[in-house]
Amino acid sequence: VVLVVDFGAQYAQLIARRVREARVYSEIVPSTMPVAEMLAKNPRAIILSGGPSSVYAEGAPSLDRALFEAGVPVFGMCYGFQLMATTLGGTVDDNGAREYGRTSLAVSKAGSTLFEGTPTEQPVWMSHGDACSAAPEGFTVTASTDVVPVAAFENDEKKLYGVQYHPEVMHSTYGQQVLEHFLYRGAGIEPTWTTTNVVEEQVALIREQVGDRRAICGLSGGVDSAVAAALVQKAIGSQLTCVYVDHGLMRKGETEQVEKDFVAATGAKLVVVDAEKRFLDALAGVSDPEQKRKIIGREFIRVFEQAQLEILQEEGPEVAFLVQGTLYPDVVESGGGTGTANIKSHHNVGGLPDDIEFQLVEPLRQLFKDEVRMVGQELGLPEEIVQRQPFPGPGLGIRIVGDVTKERLDLLREADAIAREELTAAGLDRDIWQCPVVLLADVRSVGVQGDGRTYGHPIVLRPVSSEDAMTADWSRLPYETLAKISTRITNEVADVNRVVLDVTSKPPGTIEWE
Ligand code: XMP
Repeated sequence: VVLVVDFGAQYAQLIARRVREARVYSEIVPSTMPVAEMLAKNPRAIILSGGPSSVYAEGAPSLDRALFEAGVPVFGMCYGFQLMATTLGGTVDDNGAREYGRTSLAVSKAGSTLFEGTPTEQPVWMSHGDACSAAPEGFTVTASTDVVPVAAFENDEKKLYGVQYHPEVMHSTYGQQVLEHFLYRGAGIEPTWTTTNVVEEQVALIREQVGDRRAICGLSGGVDSAVAAALVQKAIGSQLTCVYVDHGLMRKGETEQVEKDFVAATGAKLVVVDAEKRFLDALAGVSDPEQKRKIIGREFIRVFEQAQLEILQEEGPEVAFLVQGTLYPDVVESGGGTGTANIKSHHNVGGLPDDIEFQLVEPLRQLFKDEVRMVGQELGLPEEIVQRQPFPGPGLGIRIVGDVTKERLDLLREADAIAREELTAAGLDRDIWQCPVVLLADVRSVGVQGDGRTYGHPIVLRPVSSEDAMTADWSRLPYETLAKISTRITNEVADVNRVVLDVTSKPPGTIEWE
């Protein structure tokens, strides 16, 4: 394992992903972890991430010198670089040399371990105030910029390396190559980590964990639960029962996709609970978004628990495992422990009954989203499931502004299906993150169709581009595609006489309307 020590910015996850792209397994640890504990994980190499502090700021995270003396190769980036410099006796000061964004790096030692085979002038992404003016003893300076005399250094003998910039961001053109040089040349690691290994390893682990007992997995129609279920199915076959709660808030064809395609691809045992009426009854007359979310979340857990109980009764009490599609970012973020504002109460399957002890099986805990997709592909899941764009747990329930009825859902399902069809036909699926289609059920506007006046509802298109849904920008879709979607929706969906485009970024808007 390669450890990525997180100094408190968002860079650590990106670094960990880049290491895995280099086919080396990586894990993130907080900078507060004692060095002895880090070393006890037997890392093949350690990477120190960037961070928001100045190394001289009060309370800035520091690092025990022992880390650099353990014989483990270390690569410091940005804050990690400065920390390595100051800890080992170099000089970092605030010389007014601020660099933010794209900078040109001058490589002074072309044959160095990190820069071998890369140009002597290369674009890199910087983000720092302080600058290193003298490298520690025993280190060779390998690069500089106009304002920073020491922008990279290395001590090949001790296997210690550092760069002032961020090699992990894509604006640092040779960043991945430099990272790979550290891993392969500096640390001598072979690139052997692949999703095939992950599948084999997880299958073995699941078999060991579950033994001859039984497991239940809730399917949502999304990528994560589908891949988690497929992985467990591969490991324990008929000992797994999948449960899909049809809350009637899914998009057109999605329930069928789970019922047919998922089962066809995996051979899993699937229980579909038709709970549409129950959800619609509970939602009747409710138009407040948070209220809707709470109701849907509550009903979901109840229906799921009921299904679990029935399976328990049928299969016997040895059903002791609950499969969840928890991903690595969730694990890192919940371990990070810093509180975030509750903007919307997201709902996921998590309702463990009080009186039944389930153990969790979480085979995706070490994976990033793109890796989950690769594992899904490897397991033979269809493209429509593996490449599925994000869709909220509460479904179309939070895409109807106003209260939720069967008629409104059907209408929105039609409009949404048209938008999806045209986006796919235009080859835009990979360009956009997702495109919520929203029905403004409480709004009416006047229109004219044929010879008559209409008084119908508007449909909102909300195409966004994003990397992680935390921030997003509205997608600049081609006018022809927008025109086609608009014409088709107003022609084909009764009661809709207007299509509008949402051109708000996030922030200030959220991706969903509710
Ligand atoms: P917002 O609207 O908060 O959405 O910008 C960010 C991302 O999360 C999805 N989303 C949800 N996903 N349960 C989910 O599983 C939820 O309750 C939920 N609400 C929003 C949304 O589609 C977007 O991708």
